[in-house]
Amino acid sequence: MKTAILALLLGLSLPALADRMPLPADTPASYKAECGSCHLAFPPALLSAGDWQRTLAGLKSHFGTDASVEGRNSQEIAAFLRRHAGDAGRLGSAGDPPRITQTARFSHKHREVPARFWSDPRVKTAANCEGCHRGAAEGRYSEHDLAIPGLHG
Ligand code: HEC
Ligand code: HEC
Repeated sequence: MKTAILALLLGLSLPALADRMPLPADTPASYKAECGSCHLAFPPALLSAGDWQRTLAGLKSHFGTDASVEGRNSQEIAAFLRRHAGDAGRLGSAGDPPRITQTARFSHKHREVPARFWSDPRVKTAANCEGCHRGAAEGRYSEHDLAIPGLHG
């Protein structure tokens, strides 16, 4: 009986997992402030611990900007990202410098998105999650919650 209920719960919750990716409850305010000012404060599970570490090590010259973080905030952010990082094997290589948008997992999830949308002026870049996912700031990535008509297929 217990197993049946568990199987039912798992069955119901699995499809919802991938499109709900809110920031973890223990997200430090420093992460939202320091890493959410130029772009979305990305969900930590979308890069591996090693790739986050490489990202943090290169903040002084971060995609053409200086995104350095000082002192205590730097340690707090590093510990947070390590704690919630995704599995390197499942994500696939993120390139150098690491990009969420270069991982095999990202490509796989977006394989049905027509090419013209990536360069659409409303989107501009693949890293602009909110350009397509209007609920991204709240962690909502459902295909039923997209910002642009016709985006899906
Ligand atoms: C001063 C602005 C700025 C700040 C602050 C900043 N970033 Fe960025 N970040 C950028 C830019 C610009 C890009 C490149 C976006 C693009 O390709 O469209 C980027 C891209 C990224 C990417 C790769 C996105 C992709 O393509 O998958 C990651 C990961 C990232 N930032 C993490 C962080 C983290 C972690 C912090 C906080 C320590 C941070 N950023 C703070 C400007 C910033
Ligand atoms: C050009 C538009 C576009 C951009 C930019 C974009 N996405 Fe998506 N994304 C989509 C579409 C469309 C889907 C639905 C794909 C499908 O169901 O075939 C999707 C699906 C997803 C899914 C899977 C949801 C599920 O139901 O499993 C996740 C997670 C996701 N996106 C995260 C992101 C993140 C994080 C970013 C930014 C780093 C991003 N997306 C940028 C269009 C975009």
